[in-house]
Amino acid sequence: MGKIDQLVVAVLEAWLEGKVSKAPGAKTGWDNRCMPSLTPVPASHWKLSVAPMMDWTDRHCRYFHRLLSKNVLLYTEMVTTGALLHGDVARHLRFNAQEHPVALQLGGSEPADLARCAKLGELWEYDEINLNCGCPSERVQRGAFGACLMAEPQLVADCVKAMVDVVAVPITVKHRIGIDKNESYEFVRDFVGAVSEAGCPTFIVHARNAWLKGLSPKENREVPPLRYELVQRLKAEFPGLNIVVNGGITTPEQVAEQLRGLDGVMVGREAYHNPWWLASWDAAFYGAEPIAELTRETVEEQMVHYMAQEAAAHGTPWSSIARHMLGLRHGLPGARRWRQVWSDHKLKDLQPRDVMLLSHSEVQKTA
Ligand SMILES: Cc1cc2nc3c(=O)[nH]c(=O)nc-3n(C[C@H](O)[C@H](O)[C@H](O)COP(=O)(O)O)c2cc1C
Repeated sequence: MGKIDQLVVAVLEAWLEGKVSKAPGAKTGWDNRCMPSLTPVPASHWKLSVAPMMDWTDRHCRYFHRLLSKNVLLYTEMVTTGALLHGDVARHLRFNAQEHPVALQLGGSEPADLARCAKLGELWEYDEINLNCGCPSERVQRGAFGACLMAEPQLVADCVKAMVDVVAVPITVKHRIGIDKNESYEFVRDFVGAVSEAGCPTFIVHARNAWLKGLSPKENREVPPLRYELVQRLKAEFPGLNIVVNGGITTPEQVAEQLRGLDGVMVGREAYHNPWWLASWDAAFYGAEPIAELTRETVEEQMVHYMAQEAAAHGTPWSSIARHMLGLRHGLPGARRWRQVWSDHKLKDLQPRDVMLLSHSEVQKTA
């Protein structure tokens, strides 16, 4: 940990020392004068979001997505409490001011650790802190968090309570509809009931079970069947909560249909692989005027500018940024050749602007 990180953590420790009791889940030692004033967050905050995706939705990807939609809510990749409390805080939490609204997703199951990390997230000015209760990976299970937390609603409630007690930004939970072969609605209902009572008003529900044994994380996003009706039932049973659906949503028609009954739709893989779709969201779902200047070319141009800035400020190679925009020309003639140029490591010593010019001349050749 760098000196500044150590300082931030020390200040945070001191701050929390005075505000929250040590025992997780126990009655907190809040001094009422220090209670955060909870700012009401409009439900439209969750209307459309891009899902947290490990190794994909880093700050470069989020910068790119923000160029496409001014309104969509963006999520970070999951950051574990261990990585934040013992690692390089700035590396995990730094983001571009343009990314707002942006939510930090945490992975962990220790209420006191999560409280510290939520506070760090708030200090870094994230707009929301989300707890991951949906990741099925074996590594995450060994850490006793992610989807296996759904079997312990009281522990999740303690985690939520510990975070709600120390931050004013919204705390949300992302979870599945069940684990393993337990398909009962009551399981997810009781989970949402217990966790909402602890102070979480917003649930992002990936509408399939997580099978904790025998499936890879990738298979766990494809094999267990989608059951949107359970998400609708949650909304009917808890009309006062914000219920956001996730999983398998790839078309504007699906988004519109889900928004008729629910508070929001979170899109993952389709947003990543077909990012130009995001460019229509502000007009289609937020009532914004279409922006004539917003074209694939202007977005690419802005990304080239960003690549040069990032290289100058942090020495970031352009390929670490370009990899997130490879789907920009999805479905257009020449898209494959354009993608090949932008992912060609032999060009790594070229300036991004020259790579762009090369990619355009290659696309022309395929016309
Ligand atoms: C590469 C990849 C990484 C993911 N990482 C996370 C993660 O860090 N946290 C999380 O809650 N979900 C993660 N997910 C799951 C997505 O957030 C989302 O729930 C899932 O992809 C289903 O939505 P979709 O069908 O719209 O893609 C990941 C998904 C993918 C494809």
